[in-house]
This record gives sequence, structure tokens and C-alpha cells, in this order.
Amino acid sequence: MFAITGTPGVGKTTVAKVLESRGYRVAHFNEIARHYGCVDEGNDTVEIDLDLLAELFNPDEFNFDFVEGHMSHYIADRCAVLRCRPDVLERRMRERGWDEKKILENLEAEIIDYVLVEAMEICDEVNETDTTFMSPEEVSDTVEHIFKGELNQPPGKIDWIRELGEEIERYLKL
Ligand SMILES: Nc1ncnc2c1ncn2[C@@H]1O[C@H](COP(=O)(O)OP(=O)(O)OP(=O)(O)O)[C@@H](O)[C@H]1O
Ligand SMILES: [Mg+2]
Repeated sequence: MFAITGTPGVGKTTVAKVLESRGYRVAHFNEIARHYGCVDEGNDTVEIDLDLLAELFNPDEFNFDFVEGHMSHYIADRCAVLRCRPDVLERRMRERGWDEKKILENLEAEIIDYVLVEAMEICDEVNETDTTFMSPEEVSDTVEHIFKGELNQPPGKIDWIRELGEEIERYLKL
């Protein structure tokens, strides 16, 4: 399976829907984790036992093209890490009405390349797509090309700390 991953709010589910409308079979990471009994749901927390999932997961049981979710790289060989410039990601999250703590955690994760680094430790092939100024259709086109082997976007081109310069201090002080 090919994972569509990235920091929460970056647009994974939106892309998944576009790819589904194009006829691809897309699985949702949380549903797979639930299928294997690896999800522990509290009042407003969801904990996933990733070690157990890695042990139990059987790719032959899930005949999907893509899996989407911010931990989907844990069960895939190939992935596209969707990235979004922190100021634009912040706007997307605020528009969704997320609470301050969640916004700050996710911005920090995006700034320090958290998902990318994890994906590089787990997957054989990692691609990195800057979605900041792309429409969902354009992001979906890119992911589709990567999936088909027509495009390669090796990681390493994105550095939000350098790109945002002194602006970054705003996030680090928050
Ligand atoms: N390319 C895009 N351009 C502008 N807005 C976008 C884009 N993709 C998604 N959005 C908007 O950003 C918000 C988050 O998108 P989405 O739910 O797809 O993110 P997600 O990565 O699945 O997040 P989560 O990890 O929380 O499930 C939504 O309001 C969506 O409409
Ligand atoms: Mg989502």
C-alpha cells in the first residue's frame, strides 16, 4: 500500500476523497487499526498501539491502493508526505476551529519535519510534496503520478525554519 501521510490538517483526507472519486481504493488508517483491535479510545483521546499493529497487520487482508492518515506510513512501503507552510497550515486549522493546544502541537510537528523523519525510518520510498499553494486536485494529481511511478519527489527540499526566517520565532514563542 501507498501511504498518504503528513501533519494533521495538511489535507490527507481531502486528497483521499479526490482519489476515491477517480476510482482508487483508499483505506483509512484508523479503521485498519480498529480492525486489528489496536485502538484505545478515551473521552477525547485516541491511542493506537503501533507495535501491536505492526505485528498483526497483514497487507494481503487489505487490498487497497492507498492508506491515509497521519500514522499511515507505519503500515506502508511507499508514501507521500504532504507538507504545508506553517502559517498557511495554521490558517487551515483555525478555520476548522481546532483548539489552541492542538494547533500549536501540529505546527511544531510540521516545523520540525516530525512525520517526514518517522516516514524515512519506516518506508522504503518516501516522497515529500509541498501543498502550500496547491489545490486539492493538484495535490491529488501529484500523488497519483508518484503512485504510478511517473514522478519522484525525494525529501530534503523543504526547510520551514529557513523559509520563514525570523517569522518562525512567532511559533517558537507561542
Ligand atoms: N490543498 C488545499 N488547499 C486549501 N485547503 C485545503 C487543501 N486541502 C485541504 N484543505 C482544507 O484543510 C482542512 C484540513 O483538510 P483535511 O481534513 O483533508 O486534513 P487531514 O490531513 O486529513 O487532517 P487530519 O489529520 O486531522 O485528518 C480542511 O478544512 C480542508 O478543506
Ligand atoms: Mg483526515
